[in-house]
Amino acid sequence: MSKRQDKKRQERRRSGTAASASSSARSSRAVRAGRVSAELAVPAGIRRPPYAVEPGSLQSALPPGDFVERMRAAGRAAREVLDEVGAAVAPGVTTDALDRIAHAAYLARGGYPSTLRYRGYPKSVCTSVNEIICHGIPDDRALMAGDIVDVDVTIYLDGVHGDCNATYAVGEVSDDDARLMSVTHESMWRGIAQVRGGAPLNAIGRAIQEHAEAHGFGVVRTFVGHGIGTEFHTPPSVPHFYDPDADQPMVAGSTFTVEPMINAGGWEVGTIWPDGWTAPTRDGSRSAQYEHTLLVTATGVEVLTAWPDEVERWLGSSTSAVS
Ligand code: MF3
Ligand code: CO
Ligand code: CO
Repeated sequence: MSKRQDKKRQERRRSGTAASASSSARSSRAVRAGRVSAELAVPAGIRRPPYAVEPGSLQSALPPGDFVERMRAAGRAAREVLDEVGAAVAPGVTTDALDRIAHAAYLARGGYPSTLRYRGYPKSVCTSVNEIICHGIPDDRALMAGDIVDVDVTIYLDGVHGDCNATYAVGEVSDDDARLMSVTHESMWRGIAQVRGGAPLNAIGRAIQEHAEAHGFGVVRTFVGHGIGTEFHTPPSVPHFYDPDADQPMVAGSTFTVEPMINAGGWEVGTIWPDGWTAPTRDGSRSAQYEHTLLVTATGVEVLTAWPDEVERWLGSSTSAVS
């Protein structure tokens, strides 16, 4: 945050206006950092990405086999893990418990949790509660009825990464939160529907922004979708808003993510927590996110982390998903 914004905030705090009263009511319910448990072990037989190689463990040399086939397998596995973790979301469950479920689910599939040790990240999933936009670190905070939590799962399987996330309601949530989640989900699919070899990349963000803003929501700009494959994050950057400069054609055969983060209030990101990762909204409003890993084809898109019935529902039968 800039010094200027900091000063404004202090002024607001001192002034005791209605705005500051409501923001302090909100901050008493704000998500706070809990205790992060010790690093979970990964058996030596699991193939690791280069950033996580340990003596005696399997190296990350690219195994034989078709890249697209491996991306399909990683996408499907990521989605299976996401579904397993999502099914465990309930009041009273800690985000650390979700992390343990995910960790075991990756290993059960022969995969490595891509986030573990990635640029120093300490856990196997990201869990982003309420006003946390993304990159929340699982800890001992128990989920409460009325929370919303994004679970972001990435698996490294046979030398490639598959990445997907979804926001889940914890027990009953408010109508406002339910609408935030459904509009964010729709926005993601409207973006995905723009994907086709040769089409401009920024058509994705244009479609997402149009839908989200029509509902009065803010589209996060700081975090974007990304190329993915043998590495976790590669070019291109995939903005979720309309960026006139991002007009390069999408390349058939390439793989990238679409993962819009939509805020109930303004689009701005607040101060990153001292943990170096957790990214809250600047105004304390809630934030939802959904993510898929995609393969661009000449005629459209293969959604590598979606089930066929979802693809049918959101894109019709012109494109295909994992089968
Ligand atoms: N899965 C996230 C994404 O969609 C990245 C998480 S990186 C971490 O790109 F280090 F924060 F885990
Ligand atoms: Co991603
Ligand atoms: Co992700």
